[in-house]
Amino acid sequence: MSADPAAVAESTRVQQAVVESVAPQFRHNPYDSYEILRATGPFVPGPHGTHLVTRHAEAQAILIDPRWSHAEEPELLHGDSDVELPGSFLWMEPPDHTRLRGLVGKAFTSRTVTSLQARAEHLVEDLLTAILAEREVDLLETLAYPVPLTLICEMLGVPAEAHAQVRAMSAGIARGLDPDVLLSPEELAARTAAVHEFTEFFGDLVEQRRENPQPDVITALVQAEEAGVRLTHTELIGTLLILVVAGHETSVNLIGNGVLALIREPGEFRRLRDDPDLAGPAVDEVLRYDAPVHLTTRTARAEITVGERTFAPGDAVIVLLGSANRDPAAFPDADRFDLGRYLPGQRAERHLSFGLGLHYCLGAPLARLEMRTVLRALGARVTDLGLLAEPSYRPNVVVRGMSELRVRVEGR
Ligand code: HEM
Repeated sequence: MSADPAAVAESTRVQQAVVESVAPQFRHNPYDSYEILRATGPFVPGPHGTHLVTRHAEAQAILIDPRWSHAEEPELLHGDSDVELPGSFLWMEPPDHTRLRGLVGKAFTSRTVTSLQARAEHLVEDLLTAILAEREVDLLETLAYPVPLTLICEMLGVPAEAHAQVRAMSAGIARGLDPDVLLSPEELAARTAAVHEFTEFFGDLVEQRRENPQPDVITALVQAEEAGVRLTHTELIGTLLILVVAGHETSVNLIGNGVLALIREPGEFRRLRDDPDLAGPAVDEVLRYDAPVHLTTRTARAEITVGERTFAPGDAVIVLLGSANRDPAAFPDADRFDLGRYLPGQRAERHLSFGLGLHYCLGAPLARLEMRTVLRALGARVTDLGLLAEPSYRPNVVVRGMSELRVRVEGR
């Protein structure tokens, strides 16, 4: 009996969408493949026996359920490289997760972060003044990178002259956050080198702070280490690593994606210029519309039923956050960029761009502050924004974003 050609074509289309949803060469637009996957079902067989979680309801159910672990990464994710990304609580579960997250949590609460408002405004104003003087710039280099990199480095206590070096090391590590199977031997080697360099660089800073304490996060961690068994040296470096890498590689993409969306939807940019108070809700719409982190993984620690499917212990899923955020079942007109979607009273469904549950993004208040400040300044000072070239994308799958965003900027 020969197979039904229509069924074969459909299955090929879905297979292709699975590949494209996690392939480096499709980073400019993963959304078309997400649409095919969502239409196929809430769970679609993915690479290496995993399931891709395509829809909002199932993604949310998995993220809030602590029986799904982020510690027991399946082999395919970080299996065969010769370097562990050391001791970061992103990949731990309680009690270690609770202990380590608790040590840095205070530094990143909304209240603490609010004290950075004036610094963030000053920084953005200066950068924008330089951009407006030049008028044709790569916005990633001139705005999207410097804002979060400067703020996280200042919070941690990295001296200004070392910010560029920190950025270079983080870039190597950020690509390395992708599942190992997606990385070439050269990229794995670059990650190993970047992690070694990071460990050495921050090891030196830690020693300096031990001798000469400062009011910064590195000193706070050193003091916690000295106080006894609260964290080991590896955990200290691992905590700094996740704060540095998660603390700016993601926000860079938020700023870049937001500016790109405003260029592509000039009506929305006009709305922002007319109403500066849209800046706050607009942050959430940018997060939803073009997520800076596209996927995360979880492994079942028990038999767990989600919707109509039951997973066995050890089963692994790839939660497609970027797809869940465009699920029409959760968001009316999901592919539309609408700055008013998260205005108070709109009762919009929450996006999953910061994750959910135990591992909910620690830096969400900082990322929001950065983006709000950028949007307010753009709305107040920029009169015209245009693309000089189609943007190019980095190959990164997890922390997805552009490598260049050349724009023309007019304003005062
Ligand atoms: C966790 C996204 C900015 C630090 C996460 C997770 C997501 C995320 C999706 C959860 C991952 C998972 O559940 O597997 C983002 C986005 C950002 C951003 C989209 C910017 C737009 C930041 C910043 C910091 C930060 C500025 C700086 C401190 C962290 C940390 C975790 C985390 C430490 C791990 C939390 C835990 O495991 O308990 N982030 N992040 N992030 N993020 Fe962010």
